[in-house]
Amino acid sequence: MNLKDLITRARTCRRFKGERRVSSEMLADLVDHARLSASARNRQVLRFATIADRDTCEALNNLVVMGGSLTPEQRAAATQHPGGFIVIAGPAHMDDFAVIDVGIAAQSINLAACEAGLACCMIGAVKRDRVAELIGLPGDLQIRLVLAIGEPDEIRRIVAPRPDGSLTYYRDERDEHCVPKRPLNECIIIKK
Ligand SMILES: Cc1cc2nc3c(=O)[nH]c(=O)nc-3n(C[C@H](O)[C@H](O)[C@H](O)COP(=O)(O)O)c2cc1C
Repeated sequence: MNLKDLITRARTCRRFKGERRVSSEMLADLVDHARLSASARNRQVLRFATIADRDTCEALNNLVVMGGSLTPEQRAAATQHPGGFIVIAGPAHMDDFAVIDVGIAAQSINLAACEAGLACCMIGAVKRDRVAELIGLPGDLQIRLVLAIGEPDEIRRIVAPRPDGSLTYYRDERDEHCVPKRPLNECIIIKK
């Protein structure tokens, strides 16, 4: 698969095959892709927690919101929770450049997961204090992003924006997850 195909396939996933666990070793390998990625001033301030334990995953799942734009029926059933989580943490004070590291790390993990036949949901809607307590995060670190990982149990695909221009993701009549993306000619605003 070439890189563009991988990026196209690596859609956010919110329904997983809940019985298929993701091992600590696999989660560590995904983090290794983040470790090898670009970092502002090469400071590498981020730290990662890998959560494979089923009970901790279930507790963590209750502290995040996946699919805020979906109806409750469209969200994951109890059997479709993630098989593992990666928590990205960093120091309390991170400048704009350091914050960019979070996105780069997350996308490296997302692409590596997709390449391995898994899928990912980057989650910013997190009860951070409670997750920090749950996983025993050292007090000098703050949670920046949580990544749900697992075997996908839903079809996700890119579609054109809707006629009204809406970019909100939605489920179509086949219960497939549709993600509108702007056309390229709208994104490139200057060409010289
Ligand atoms: C920084 C960041 C935070 C996000 N937070 C959430 C979240 O809290 N819950 C969720 O379900 N999806 C979250 N997402 C996933 C986006 O909703 C998703 O990327 C978007 O709908 C586009 O879908 P795609 O990733 O398949 O292109 C987040 C994505 C990013 C980059």
